[in-house]
Amino acid sequence: MSPLHVVILAAGQGSRMKSSLPKVLHKVAGRPMLHHVIDTAQTLGAEKVHGVIGHGADQVKAASGHYRVSWVLQEQQLGTGHAVAQTLPELPDDARVLVLYGDVPLTTAQTLQGLVQDLDDRTLGLLTVTLDNPQGYGRILRDQAGRVTAIVEQKDASTEQLAINEVNTGILAVSARHLKAWLPQLSSSNAQGEYYLTDIIAMAVQAGMRVNVAQPGNPFEVQGVNNRLQLAELERWYQAREADRLMTEGATLADPARVDVRGELTVGNDVLIDVNVVFSGKVTLGSHVSIGPGCVISDSTIADGTEIHAYSVIEQSSVGPGAQVGPFARLRPGTQLAANTKVGNFVETKKSVVGEGSKINHLSYVGDATLGTDVNVGAGTITCNYDGVNKYQTVLGDGVFVGSNSSLVAPVTVAAGATIGAGSTITRDVPEQELAVARGRQRNIAGWQKPEKK
Ligand code: UD1
Ligand code: CA
Repeated sequence: MSPLHVVILAAGQGSRMKSSLPKVLHKVAGRPMLHHVIDTAQTLGAEKVHGVIGHGADQVKAASGHYRVSWVLQEQQLGTGHAVAQTLPELPDDARVLVLYGDVPLTTAQTLQGLVQDLDDRTLGLLTVTLDNPQGYGRILRDQAGRVTAIVEQKDASTEQLAINEVNTGILAVSARHLKAWLPQLSSSNAQGEYYLTDIIAMAVQAGMRVNVAQPGNPFEVQGVNNRLQLAELERWYQAREADRLMTEGATLADPARVDVRGELTVGNDVLIDVNVVFSGKVTLGSHVSIGPGCVISDSTIADGTEIHAYSVIEQSSVGPGAQVGPFARLRPGTQLAANTKVGNFVETKKSVVGEGSKINHLSYVGDATLGTDVNVGAGTITCNYDGVNKYQTVLGDGVFVGSNSSLVAPVTVAAGATIGAGSTITRDVPEQELAVARGRQRNIAGWQKPEKK
């Protein structure tokens, strides 16, 4: 089959967003709208993706550096036909061309597949949608036999035409050869003085071609974003679909309307997710995992049977199986909690490996540390890992017991089975099984007279 080229129009200003950020960089589910569209193009197997940019072109390019896109600058926005025409020199004659919009982020690959798969030299694929309120859209004109004959823009339409509910989504597919013949013939003598891409429909019909119409499974798939209200509507639709998927895959959601997935979330069976949980990046939850209310989890793996209690924040970490985390725990990047570990309230960890069965139950900071198995870190323990210039490691061997309110001044190693007396500041290594006490000795002063009030 001939190669697929996808043209994404993204040159418009989006003034109704009232934003210094170009419209197509506003995010749905944590990702710029434009990136959703590029991903969809790639899913369809596009040989090349062309991005037509204008307003905020540099910002758009910079934000999309990780994608292979051929950028084309449209200096003046003279209409959708003019925008597509900018890419003509880049399109091989035999290409199938699919036109998408950077501000229409949620069209599914499945819907678009219907437009491009049967495309040949004799057909034009057009995505339309039927709306209760067609206000603002181009209307689809059909003849008595029901064949599409043309599109008329809202501002150019007659009263009868305005009553038509089938509208143009803007998305269409046709061979590059035809675009090269038609686009140079577009005229701007219309109500808006623009070069309308939509005028090629009538040209195709004139040339005796067939217009193949497809419709999306849901109107939200083709909804464009012009302001922040529409952005929020699309976000909610996206999240509702994600919630449906999670429930289908074995998660119980305390409230399907109060979980947000901004990335790829994978769940096992019998997962429980309480309200107001936010997932971002790549997160995997094993079976029988429960996530308490208000947790924020990004780029992490939570193994089977682990419970994350309320208001915990977990980032680039791996946890469990059978671990207990929170409430109010913060696992920063590089935390690895082994099986049956416990990290309790007001504990912060970073770049640390915590061995099986070890516990850090209250009010501690553990950074750049390696803990063996069955270590008990008492309340208020701090690894002093930073001297203001460099970071150093703390190593606690199997079965170490750290008394409450201790400071472990790294680099330092406490060997297996050793005990640290509460309130110690440990600056030297501690041998196996020994007790280290490093604190001021207690003095009791007999006969002490309290000062009297003057
Ligand atoms: C267009 C369609 C209309 C359709 C509607 C769906 C035309 C003439 N009309 O109308 O039939 O119902 O979309 O939303 O195509 N753009 C550029 N460069 C330009 C002009 C536009 O990149 O010179 C981009 C805009 O940034 C925007 C998109 O193309 O993302 C659509 O342009 P817009 O002017 O909003 O078209 P509509 O009037 O909505
Ligand atoms: Ca529009």
